[in-house]
Amino acid sequence: MKNYEIDAAWQYHDGTKHPNGILLNRAHLYHPTNRPTPFKFYRDAVQIKIVLDKQQSTVSALDAISDKIKKEKTNFIPDIHVLSKILFFSGGITKTLKFPTLGEIEFRAASCTGALYHIEIYIICSDIPGLEAGVYHFDPQNLTLTVLRKGDYRRTIINATAGESFTSSTPLMLVFTDIFSRNSVKYQAREYRHAFWDCGTILSNALAISNTQKIPYKLILGFVDSEINSFLGLDTKKEAALAILSLGHADNEIPQPPPLGKIAEQVSSEYDREFSAINDMQESSSLENYQEVRSWRKEMALETHQKNPTSTTLEEEITVDDSLESIIFRRGSTRKFSCDSISLEQLSTILKRSTNGIIADFEESKNINDIYLIANAVDGLEQGSYFYNKEHRSLELLKKGDFRDVSGHLGLDQNLPYDAAVVIFFMTNLQKVLECFGNRGYRVAQMDASIMGGKMYLAAYALHIGATGLTFYDDEVTEFFLPHANNKNTMFMIAIGKKIKI
Ligand SMILES: Cc1cc2nc3c(=O)[nH]c(=O)nc-3n(C[C@H](O)[C@H](O)[C@H](O)COP(=O)(O)O)c2cc1C
Repeated sequence: MKNYEIDAAWQYHDGTKHPNGILLNRAHLYHPTNRPTPFKFYRDAVQIKIVLDKQQSTVSALDAISDKIKKEKTNFIPDIHVLSKILFFSGGITKTLKFPTLGEIEFRAASCTGALYHIEIYIICSDIPGLEAGVYHFDPQNLTLTVLRKGDYRRTIINATAGESFTSSTPLMLVFTDIFSRNSVKYQAREYRHAFWDCGTILSNALAISNTQKIPYKLILGFVDSEINSFLGLDTKKEAALAILSLGHADNEIPQPPPLGKIAEQVSSEYDREFSAINDMQESSSLENYQEVRSWRKEMALETHQKNPTSTTLEEEITVDDSLESIIFRRGSTRKFSCDSISLEQLSTILKRSTNGIIADFEESKNINDIYLIANAVDGLEQGSYFYNKEHRSLELLKKGDFRDVSGHLGLDQNLPYDAAVVIFFMTNLQKVLECFGNRGYRVAQMDASIMGGKMYLAAYALHIGATGLTFYDDEVTEFFLPHANNKNTMFMIAIGKKIKI
């Protein structure tokens, strides 16, 4: 990445805007019968069966979602049961539904645009109780770990992060990758946004489950891309690493890695069309060497938001007894909202529990995305558009009125945002983020928003109300929230409300 070139990110972002982005072909049609197999397989590789520990966690699910759990500071080495739990409740299959023309579709723990499941998870670990040191790929269909390399290779990952301090003492690292064509088959070049949206929702689940186990963690977006990708044997025109989640803490010395032998051979996918805009954006946002990674890792100067004296402070919170596991099992994207209202306490709980931030190498910069919303039906809150002030936990009224039509329109004229009680937009000053982080800032902005979005999904289902991610008309969202949202760009959208079973 040229230090700090940002044109590529703008070209990609502008070019993939709905409705007229020049990188999108409006005549493109996708039929679900052309859905690529959402699983990656390896030829002749050893598989290790993992077993899901049925025991439900006892810590408050809302505390786990909002990262309010005190972590173990000293030696904490997750075992195979904990690892299996994190994998299953983030990338595992939680339900199978039958459709008239498509047959059975397996749905996963976290939401994913188009149910195309393009995010893969790899595991790099030292010896942990129940699992030998190695490099593994998670196969959600068979609930197995495919052995890719044997031995302790953590040092390779640590080096690629330029010796990131937390990662340098973790026994377990998960690498999340994106297989571009599995999602671009439907969404074309906009796929690279979805890479982060769908990785973000998976990460929200992974972080929440890790929190139930009190595992210290750090999410890493700064690494030398080529080192991680080649280590995992990825063909970067087709698949690339997006994020590393470092888990646990071990005091022992990290050995030099064994020599790199051949990695297990993957079975090729049946759908392989490349979109140059995706490859270009991936490349332009890559970090090329340790020096680049080190200088990339920095804080962004924050915009602070004063409390507006007329704003509504959110105080009420609801408590929830259900375990996080049961909430993830019942999560699903709402397919029809009832138009009924939710309560201000419900909205307040969702907003507070999903915007506390996470621990990440970019997250000293807490306010990367701001929260804007349209309240269509919230008991105790006037209908209108609002800005949610995270620092002061207050809702600032921007425009009074019934904006159901606007909600429906901004969410690509779908019924879901029209019927929802609230639609929420995550918006950032992209120019500022890019000026701080270069083209890779695009990854940061998208990931920051989608992790909050994923937490909102979980918080809504914790409260027995529905939620769905949505796509949007980019510039019209900004226009609607002007002048407050001046210079802001929409990264993620979610609708929340009472669901109707269909
Ligand atoms: C970021 C995001 C955007 C989405 N956009 C839409 C959308 O525009 N319209 C829609 O009907 N569903 C949308 N969905 C819902 C997905 O279709 C849904 O997550 C997927 O089918 C998997 O189902 P599940 O969430 O019930 O597990 C979106 C989901 C996400 C995460």
